[in-house]
This record gives sequence, C-alpha cells and structure tokens, in this order.
Amino acid sequence: MDIFCRDVKPYESLNLRRVQFWLRIMKEHSLFMKLGFACSDAELIRQAEEFYNVFEDLEKQSCKIKCDEDFMAFVCRIMVAVKNIFAFKRHVLHLIVECEIGGYNYPLLIDHVSREAMYFLKLLQKIQDGDMKSPVDAIVSDNVFWLRHMADHARFIAGLLDPSERGFVEKANAFAVQFEQLQLQARDLDSMLWHSRPNNDLIRFEMDATNATIQIRDFKEAARDLISSCKVVSLIPPLLADHVLREAEYFLEVLEQIRNDIPNMDEMMVTCDY
Ligand SMILES: [Fe+2]
Ligand SMILES: [Fe+2]
Repeated sequence: MDIFCRDVKPYESLNLRRVQFWLRIMKEHSLFMKLGFACSDAELIRQAEEFYNVFEDLEKQSCKIKCDEDFMAFVCRIMVAVKNIFAFKRHVLHLIVECEIGGYNYPLLIDHVSREAMYFLKLLQKIQDGDMKSPVDAIVSDNVFWLRHMADHARFIAGLLDPSERGFVEKANAFAVQFEQLQLQARDLDSMLWHSRPNNDLIRFEMDATNATIQIRDFKEAARDLISSCKVVSLIPPLLADHVLREAEYFLEVLEQIRNDIPNMDEMMVTCDY
C-alpha cells in the first residue's frame, strides 16, 4: 500500500538520528523547491525560504535534546512543521499541474518530496500510534515506498544530466526500469502476503532489493563525486546528488533491519492481535 493510505506506516522505529536525517531532508527540499520557482513567484520563494529557516532551526534544537521527555516534546513540535511543509508541497503541486505557475520544478519531483514529508510525519506519529499490526505488511509497504523513490531518483538523474552524457543517461534509465520492476513486485507481495507470515519469496526479495540498492547507492556516490568535482555536465546541484545518495543509504539501513528481523518474525506475530 502507498504511504498516503491511512494505515501505512514506516517499518523502522523513531530515534533522534533519524529525526535529524529527516529534518535535513525537509530543509533541503525547501531549497530545491525555491531554486525551481520562477523568479516572478516571489511569494512562493519567500515561503520556501521560511520553511528552510524553520527546519534549520529545528535541526539546531535537535542537538540540545538530553532526555526522553525533551524528545517527546520536540517530536510534537516537529509534527506541526512537517504537516505545514506537506500542505505547502501539495499546494505547489496543485499550482503546477493546473498550469497556474511555471518554473522548473517537475510535478513528479514535488509529488515525490510530498510523499517524503508524509513518510516523516508517519514516522513521527509512531511515537503515539505504534507500529502497523502486521510486520510483513509494514515491511512490504516500506519496500513499495522506497523502491518507488529509488526509481524516481533514477528518472530525475536521467532528466537532469546533460543529454551528451549518453552513458550515464543510459545507466540512470536502466536503474529506473530495474526499480520500477522491483516496485511492482513489492506491490504483488503486498497483496499476496497481506496479514501473512514472511515466506522464502519475501526473504529472497529483500536480498534482491538490497543488492539493487547497493548498486544504485554506488552509482549515486560516483555521480555525486563527479558532479562536485565538475567532471560531468548536468543540471544537478551537488547538494541534490548528495541528498539522493543519503536517501539510498537510509533505505539500505532499513533493509538491513528488515533482514535481521525476519528470522524472529514468527515470535513478533504471535503477539499481534488481528
Ligand atoms: Fe528527498
Ligand atoms: Fe527522494
């Protein structure tokens, strides 16, 4: 199921390091959106700058958290900011698809960053609402989310590379096809294993997803290094290249947790109340 479905939540648990990861991601989304607005859309640029400052400030405050109580209160404050940036992203997306504004923000990019805001919001809400009832549903939904995002990244990279970089464009498109296929497979598993136990097919699938993600992570790392040392021509800012690399690393961490948890999942499921 998609992240916009009511019951879907991220698989991993919430901790301060993950909160800091997502605060930085939200801050950078504000910057990328700002850079993509037409200069005549001054009010949208101003709002994007405001979001940048809000998330930068929250990042600084996150370094001062000393105890669980501080953390709980902090999470409640972040939720408000994340709900606001989610609404802003959806508003901008609406303006773009209704052709009410121009600029250089792909609609799919804005949809993508709004999905990430929803993911972060649901991760924060887990502190109150807990996990999804069935761990397998949570695993497969998380796979659907991240595999789609890896495919989107590959499409964005292909679209922002200079067309003369034929080899890299081809590689990025090949990753997009590979991750779109994995995402479809994850959706099949989503319905086939709904409310079910992990089976060997799921274990194999998690290995396939991990191997593909290691490859795209390495590709993004090489791209980031080439872009930052000006050895490839593209419209990709070095920060965007680094941003998508960090997201691949985050997904690999989630996949590692999933692979470690699956062998103990029968015990976890005994405690589930259906
Ligand atoms: Fe992002
Ligand atoms: Fe992303």
